Amino acid sequence: MTVQLIATQPFNDQKPGTSGLRKRVSVFQSPHYLENFVQSIFDAITAPNGATLVLGGDGRFHNQEAIQIILKMAAANGFGKVLVGQRGILSTPAASCVIRKYQTYGGIILSASHNPGGPQGDFGIKYNMANGGPAPEKVTEDIFARSKEITQYRIVDAPDIALDVLGETDLHGMKVEVIDSVADYAELMGSLFDFAAIRQLLADGFRIKFDAMHAVTGPYARAILVDALGAPADAIMNAEPLPDFGGGHPDPNLTYAHDLVEIMYGEDAPDFGAASDGDGDRNMILGKHFFVTPSDSLALIAADARLAPGYAQGIAGVARSMPTSAAVDRVAQELDIPCFETPTGWKFFGNLMDAGKVTLCGEESFGTGSNHVREKDGLWAVLFWLNILAIKRQSVETIVKRHWARFGRNVYSRHDYEELPSDVANGLIDHVRASFASLTGKTFGAYTVKTCDDFSYTDPVDGSVSQKQGIRILFEDGSRIVFRLSGTGTEGATLRIYLEAFEPDRSKHDLDAQDALAEMITIADDIAGLKQRTGREQPTVIT
Ligand code: G6P
Ligand code: ZN
Repeated sequence: MTVQLIATQPFNDQKPGTSGLRKRVSVFQSPHYLENFVQSIFDAITAPNGATLVLGGDGRFHNQEAIQIILKMAAANGFGKVLVGQRGILSTPAASCVIRKYQTYGGIILSASHNPGGPQGDFGIKYNMANGGPAPEKVTEDIFARSKEITQYRIVDAPDIALDVLGETDLHGMKVEVIDSVADYAELMGSLFDFAAIRQLLADGFRIKFDAMHAVTGPYARAILVDALGAPADAIMNAEPLPDFGGGHPDPNLTYAHDLVEIMYGEDAPDFGAASDGDGDRNMILGKHFFVTPSDSLALIAADARLAPGYAQGIAGVARSMPTSAAVDRVAQELDIPCFETPTGWKFFGNLMDAGKVTLCGEESFGTGSNHVREKDGLWAVLFWLNILAIKRQSVETIVKRHWARFGRNVYSRHDYEELPSDVANGLIDHVRASFASLTGKTFGAYTVKTCDDFSYTDPVDGSVSQKQGIRILFEDGSRIVFRLSGTGTEGATLRIYLEAFEPDRSKHDLDAQDALAEMITIADDIAGLKQRTGREQPTVIT
């Protein structure tokens, strides 16, 4: 076995996005593409000789091949040990858990999250730091800078490592330890939630359905919900992880998790439904014939956090991304704890959690989590809900409606226009930005614009500033419309429009969000010239 120095040339498109580098599988399969990026990570992070890494992915097409390459490159770059999930599997929150538990130098996660997989689908890679969270911008910028000047990468010439057998192997002086993908994570969940109460709830006939969407959470859900908590095996659907996610789009929302949605809105609907995404960090929560918005879910978990043993001592603070509704702000106010508003992207929560400022965080993009790891965590949210349900013994709908009755309802919806030509999307955003002055003070029906701005954030921990994080149109009565371009797409541009109106009146809480927001939807079209600029009559996805 020898270390080979392979000559290479830079690619100019290896700039990590919101959550690592994501491209079509075919791009990652092109010669040197993955290798260049991995070497750029290793060059940028300057790990000491002998350092330990965690490595795993969501099992999508190309996962195993990429893992073999990364192991050989890690060995050639002086790492002492790599903890790799069995068969290359680690959900994103499980990877974060393992990094923290074994105090490794960092970890590499292979995933394109909720983007479709398979030979025609997407692949992705990201680096996480010793705190278990995604690399901050200064690190990803260093990685990008290295990728533009790289001339060679290091790799050992060695046979592939068997990834299906637990245990340790030597790879050119580096230890490769294949670990159980689920055990450490399941143990952490057991320490946070009242498993006895949940087991009793299920034993009493409370019916649940979890949709793993043929992605990474199948084995995790089986170990925790079925083996540990006693749910019947058929409580988990699409439980077998497949390299192409069974041809589906593993994003847990009302559009893409339609099989589950049909069951939960069907005649013999179970009491509780949930789904998670490709890499296990997102979640969708449903009750019988009832959808819980991610923004409400965060607020509810914050309000009832003390019901879970891991949070019984109370929470230090909460954080939400700017486009997430202000429902949690109202809870924070009542609990008299701080509430932070950050740009979109889980990485912005890391500093707040490391500094002990917040315990719970969430985003409208179906992400919820806490300081137990440094990623959002799909199954964690499901277990938190089950814990609350096990103590309260009310239906999901009752719990949410009582919450609204107490705090008021932040009626909320997001409209997405996917795969727009980039110039159309940018033109629309530029147009709204250029209208700030003329919009301020303008009245649209019942709504008058108070202010408009480009959201900018100064991190209270390290002082770093992030600008142009979405356009906010704020109305006098606290309602708002936010325009933002997605940072996670791989094809064209996706425009997201976030609509929010506060409704204190209990008698209107039964209204469907689309009906309650009808006027705001028209105003958004007015302000942005949506239909005319996009040529679309309808959004692609409504959540
Ligand atoms: C990923 C990140 C989330 C973020 C989301 C936004 O899932 O992990 O933290 O909220 O992307 O996606 P978008 O497509 O809206 O940029
Ligand atoms: Zn994800």
